[in-house]
Amino acid sequence: MKIGCPAEITKDENRIALTPSSALELKKLGFECFIEKNAGSNSGFSDQEYLDAGVKVLNSAKKIWETSDVIIKVRNPLQNEIKLIQPKTILISFIWPAQNKDLLGKLNKLNASVIAMDMIPRISRAQKMDALSSMANVAGYRAVIEAGNNFGRFFTGQITAAGKVPPAKVLVIGAGVAGLAAIGTAQSLGAIVRSFDVRPEVAEQIESMGAEFLMLDFPEDASGEGGYAKPASKEFIKKEMTLFKEQASEIDIVITTALIPGRPAPKLWLAEMVKLMQPGSVIVDLAAEQGGNCEFTKPGKIIETENRVKIIGFTDFPSRMAAQSSNLYSNNVRHMLSDLTPNRDGVININMDDDVIRGSTVAHEGNITYPPPPPKIKAIAKVTSNSNQKSPQELEKENYDKERSYGRRQVMLLIIGGFLMFLIGSYAPPSFMQHFIVFVLSCFVGFQVIWNVSHSLHTPLMAVTNAISGIIIIGALLQIGSSNYLVNILASISVLIATINIVGGFLVTKRMLSMFKKS
Ligand code: NAI
Repeated sequence: MKIGCPAEITKDENRIALTPSSALELKKLGFECFIEKNAGSNSGFSDQEYLDAGVKVLNSAKKIWETSDVIIKVRNPLQNEIKLIQPKTILISFIWPAQNKDLLGKLNKLNASVIAMDMIPRISRAQKMDALSSMANVAGYRAVIEAGNNFGRFFTGQITAAGKVPPAKVLVIGAGVAGLAAIGTAQSLGAIVRSFDVRPEVAEQIESMGAEFLMLDFPEDASGEGGYAKPASKEFIKKEMTLFKEQASEIDIVITTALIPGRPAPKLWLAEMVKLMQPGSVIVDLAAEQGGNCEFTKPGKIIETENRVKIIGFTDFPSRMAAQSSNLYSNNVRHMLSDLTPNRDGVININMDDDVIRGSTVAHEGNITYPPPPPKIKAIAKVTSNSNQKSPQELEKENYDKERSYGRRQVMLLIIGGFLMFLIGSYAPPSFMQHFIVFVLSCFVGFQVIWNVSHSLHTPLMAVTNAISGIIIIGALLQIGSSNYLVNILASISVLIATINIVGGFLVTKRMLSMFKKS
């Protein structure tokens, strides 16, 4: 079959659905690829690179639509493109069927099979095709870069001869794909990052990235289906607002990504919070396209408020990094095509029994197949949330039970240990017992010391080597002064080497810790 990729005609859209490297992979699946002249230039791919990858370059969009059995695109087709659609064309692009019912009707009337890249279910098997996640990832990264571009200070704290610079404080609201990407980027630039999400299961992900999860003391879980959120109650949002108000005066950069699928973005950063922010602060509203999370957001624009807070409402972050986004998106499309071509013979088979294909096919054989039934496999995030989610009372009881059984075990071990000592002591000579008790006690103390070191510091350097070196030094000190000349030399060498080990261990640890210290 022939796959065609026309140039994007939506204003300011720089991405492209076919890259030279994805074309090479599509060729291996048995497809012949076509691209419109200059279609890749805004993403940094020249016609020559496509020709080198075996792609045929055609002069006009009309020729692409007429020649191809499958059309791959980034944006949903506009009126001028709909006119060019041939019957039975397979169209793969973003469609947003919930928002574009008219478009879906028109495409269906033309007997096109339509695969919406925005409808791919969030299940593990479909991650390689999940274009929404790839684009949100780029958007989250770019949001931080745009914030930095509009923020007058460093992200990281510094002490210089010219003065002390405090680190920027970044608040990320909504820790989905875009939010987590923003957290990672801001964190790596050295900012102090805090984040809030209505789904408590993301707390661990936020913390594992080094950011602080802002906890809301409220017994409600707004986790919905498919790894997305469901609308939170009014009381919950009220509590959330109080939390944000407390943060507003401290925070320098706010990145909002909160979204509930199929709904307008919730208004979370209100005028009163903007007013509390310091002059020079920046808000990046990733949800601008759905109306924005901030009350002042103007989609597609940067505005500055009276108290000099900049609010960025761009709706084309992925397009602002077109080369990266096109690479990721074309890979998503290529993986989708690979699943649609199970025999790798260049012939597409839309298998409606396949969860991923069914979920993303919104029109097929003259029928509108949107909305799809829920996937048979649960979304990744939801599965973990169901299995891990416990109420605070349950967690407290679990901790109490754990501590009790630990205590019981300790007492049992002491009784058994005492009994064994008594047995050995009844038979062994007193000189042996003296050494044996010291040996047992040092094992016990060493074990307790190492065991109680937190896992993050559980490096051979900090815990094991230093403990072992300490024991070596004590042993060697006891031997120094022995009448045997050789024993004296060996003991001194042991003290020297073990001391080097301990001092070196502390120096390295100090350097490691200072790498994470915020001045
Ligand atoms: P997502 O669904 O993975 O994440 C949204 C997060 O918001 C979820 O974790 C959800 O629990 C959270 N949330 C919902 N209501 C909340 C509330 N009241 N308080 C706190 N958190 C709340 O979505 P994804 O893929 O990360 O995208 C985030 C946003 O970025 C969306 O609005 C999306 O449309 C937008 N986006 C914007 C782009 C642009 O160029 N401006 C490009 C790509 C995505």
